[in-house]
Amino acid sequence: MTHHSRIRQQAPTLAPVDYAVQFGEFIGIGPNGNLWVDGCDVAELAERFGTPLYIISENQLRHTYRVFRDAFRAHYPDVEILFANKSNNGLAIRHIMNQEGAGGDCFGAQEMYMALLAGTDPRTLVLNGSNKQDSELEMAIANGLCVNIDAMDELDRIDVIARRLGVVADIGIRLKLDLEPLTGRMGVAMHGPGTLKQQSDSTKWGMTREQTVEIVRRAQAMPSVQLKETHFHLSRMSNDPADFAVMAREMITWSGHLRDHAGWIPPCIDIGGGWTFGKWYGTGPNSQLDDASAPTADDYARLCCAAIKEEAARLDLPLPKLRLEPGRALSGPAGVAVGRVGAVKTGATRKWVNLDISTNHLSWAAVLDWYYHAVPVVDARAEATETVDLVGPLCNSDELGKHRRMPALTRGDLVAFLDTGGYTESSAARYNAQLLPATVLVTGNHAEITTEREQLKDVAGRFRVPAHLLAASFARGD
Ligand SMILES: Cc1ncc(COP(=O)(O)O)c(C=O)c1O
Repeated sequence: MTHHSRIRQQAPTLAPVDYAVQFGEFIGIGPNGNLWVDGCDVAELAERFGTPLYIISENQLRHTYRVFRDAFRAHYPDVEILFANKSNNGLAIRHIMNQEGAGGDCFGAQEMYMALLAGTDPRTLVLNGSNKQDSELEMAIANGLCVNIDAMDELDRIDVIARRLGVVADIGIRLKLDLEPLTGRMGVAMHGPGTLKQQSDSTKWGMTREQTVEIVRRAQAMPSVQLKETHFHLSRMSNDPADFAVMAREMITWSGHLRDHAGWIPPCIDIGGGWTFGKWYGTGPNSQLDDASAPTADDYARLCCAAIKEEAARLDLPLPKLRLEPGRALSGPAGVAVGRVGAVKTGATRKWVNLDISTNHLSWAAVLDWYYHAVPVVDARAEATETVDLVGPLCNSDELGKHRRMPALTRGDLVAFLDTGGYTESSAARYNAQLLPATVLVTGNHAEITTEREQLKDVAGRFRVPAHLLAASFARGD
């Protein structure tokens, strides 16, 4: 069997499921009125695997990836999608992305290790980070990843390691774009107050024009390194494709600057992540919901690719390869998180529905005031009769969803949060010594654990008590 026929066999043709209510191509309300993920009834999954539970639809992930990839390929000749591993860095997810032909953006040694462990082609991986350790650089260089430089001393450290290993290291440079046209633009304000330009300028990321020119000049004199790309990540500051097009245009403007001042034309630009997605029922940064009016991958692709082509033509530059690092837009829609109702409490002005899932598990709900659409799992279309606050069991207010319209929920019922495939498991916390949930991967009518549920030993087993404390607590006096 050739390599290619194996790949074809592994990347299946996808036929979206027809549901009574469609939440995605592979998530919706099924024939019995319950929430289904692909061919599995979520109520049965919760019974079988317990709660709180993360569920990922393999086919939804594949489908979303293909739509995103094809949108950019329709507008640009040479596109490579690098899945942002941080958004969901489970090994099974990485295997699926490999089979689809996606590369990856790695942050830190562990994420890089996991991608390599899953067999990702290192030439399709980049290592990003503002404070890379020597061991991390060595792992990247030894395996042939592209390291995106984000500190002035990084080039020399890479050079030393590459020479010691006797290899040529691929490098890129993370830029601090000027973004002058975004001076007066406000975004979704997820990185603090200020305009998009102020927000971008105030982060630790990227090298200035002068620094970039210096790095390029010095790198060109080093036989142990090879310049591969420039990089920028606008992040989730904005949902507007026009802002992303400004950024894409500036990447090319910067290429012109590098040609004119350092004699190097980047053969590849990597324009990072931050791409949103919308759902008719809403999801995303609270009060600025990503609903049916949110930009599609095609909207982003049309505007960004046009800007790149225009600016390249204006400056007489060849079109570079285009890399993108979508995370949330790919992993988000593939996930559903399920909690079980416990105490239901009525106050003077409010009603609280306590769940066993928490902001430890859906951290954006707390940190970014993120809206996740919530539905009852059983009889998911039941008429909403009351307004409740959905809360978790933690010792803080642990609000997962305020003022949600729900049917009357009682102890034992199940509630699902939609579009939770990104930045949930990968950023889950253990506050109050909570155990991390399990994840199941659903493929058709098959479901299998891809992350084991934590047990008490996983939490308690990490702690040590120094001998002198043991002695003070337990030593017997006369
Ligand atoms: C360098 C880089 N690329 C890509 C991403 C993915 O962003 P998103 O999930 O919003 O697409 C991030 C997120 O922090 C990032 O830092």
